[in-house]
Amino acid sequence: MKKNLYIKTYGCQMNVYDSEKMATLLAPMGFELNESMNDADMVILNTCHIREKASEKLYSELGRIKELKIIRQTQNKDMMVVVAGCVAQAEGEEIFKRSSCVDMVVGPQSYQNLPELIAKAARDKKIVIDIDFPTISKFDSLPQAKVKGVSAFLSIQEGCNEFCKFCVVPYTRGEEYSRPTMEVYREALALASQGVMDITLLGQNVNAYNGLDESSQVSNLGKLIKMVAKIDGIKRIRYMTSHPRSMHDDLIDAHGTCEKLMPFLHLPVQSGSNQILKSMNRKHTIEEYLIHIEALRKARPDIAFSSDFIVGYPGETEEDFQKTMQIVEEVNYAQCYSFKYSPRPGTPAAIMSNQIPEDIKSERLLRLQNLIAAKQSAFNQSWIGREMEVLFEKNGKYKGQVVGKSPYMQAVHLSDGEKYLEKIVKVKITKSIANSLDSVVA
Ligand code: 5AD
Ligand code: SF4
Repeated sequence: MKKNLYIKTYGCQMNVYDSEKMATLLAPMGFELNESMNDADMVILNTCHIREKASEKLYSELGRIKELKIIRQTQNKDMMVVVAGCVAQAEGEEIFKRSSCVDMVVGPQSYQNLPELIAKAARDKKIVIDIDFPTISKFDSLPQAKVKGVSAFLSIQEGCNEFCKFCVVPYTRGEEYSRPTMEVYREALALASQGVMDITLLGQNVNAYNGLDESSQVSNLGKLIKMVAKIDGIKRIRYMTSHPRSMHDDLIDAHGTCEKLMPFLHLPVQSGSNQILKSMNRKHTIEEYLIHIEALRKARPDIAFSSDFIVGYPGETEEDFQKTMQIVEEVNYAQCYSFKYSPRPGTPAAIMSNQIPEDIKSERLLRLQNLIAAKQSAFNQSWIGREMEVLFEKNGKYKGQVVGKSPYMQAVHLSDGEKYLEKIVKVKITKSIANSLDSVVA
């Protein structure tokens, strides 16, 4: 019998990827993805712990779900509620204590056990929890996701050993694990056979990738990219998220020699101040970061960069903050994400005594975001009148209009473009509006 499955995904691309895998895994049990939560037989919340108040947001969402579940029960229908993802990993049993509507809590390393756990929960009418870090990789047992469209994520590495002092990832996603190169290659082949042209290789610390190759030698991301680039159908390759400390020669070389590797790199620096970087345990200096940027620009002169920034990290002075502003000027980022530091329970920075008052954090964030917006706008404007190749992926808001992705992840619109859907087309940029570009066929 067909059952409705509703998955709500929070946070990063890793979660988007995991949600797709979960849907594929549950399909043989009769679960079909549905857009509405109201008539769901199963609701999965795939949570993210990186932002502020992640658990509060989860509990308030669960409050709403509880009401829906009660309504369904009065109609003699059930609703199984599953909390997955990093908040599940971090909160564990606490979730059952605080929210009576939850049937199952499952951590990111245990998704392959979902069918079994669901059967167990249904059979025993009991709550079920699985937040172990297993020794066998979950990747071995997850099925190949069915993808729609021409872009897809491919998870190649999970976990992080860096322990930046502000970050929960090492605690929720566990130790670094890299999939063997052949496994990645086979998944990329399968994606290409489903029509995927644009692939993003994912990992929490993706450039630390060290999977084994076919001769059981340790490989690296540079080599892996060159391998994936050999697949005909794959036209565009990207990777995220990188740590500056793990940039390596093979990877820089791939940027210089592999046409399919897009000239856009998200390389988070977090702060422009060496003092703050040290206190964050980032294990690199600004000078080292800039050397990577320079080497990448030399290898691929048309490359553009993006970054993440945290403002108001414990102990950040106005002088430190000015160094962050300076690095934005110096690198001339095409785009950036910036956040106010928010203490995450269980992380070392959360208990540092020199926390920055909220009003100072807000004021710094505003200044930084203004600068970032100006840089982004200048980058977009610089494309007016120039040509670029765009992969058109879907219909736009207006009739006949299509929307695609530039090599730099900008959204590009094209009128009367339906015949270009799912194709890479050379266009000329005519206009830059807010965060997107308008184009005509070149
Ligand atoms: N406070 C603010 N921002 C954070 N990030 C991670 N942890 C925190 C935190 N505790 C940001 C970092 C990271 C991005 C994904 O989220 O900039 O690169
Ligand atoms: Fe978190 Fe990234 Fe640092 Fe790892 S490298 S601890 S994922 S911020």
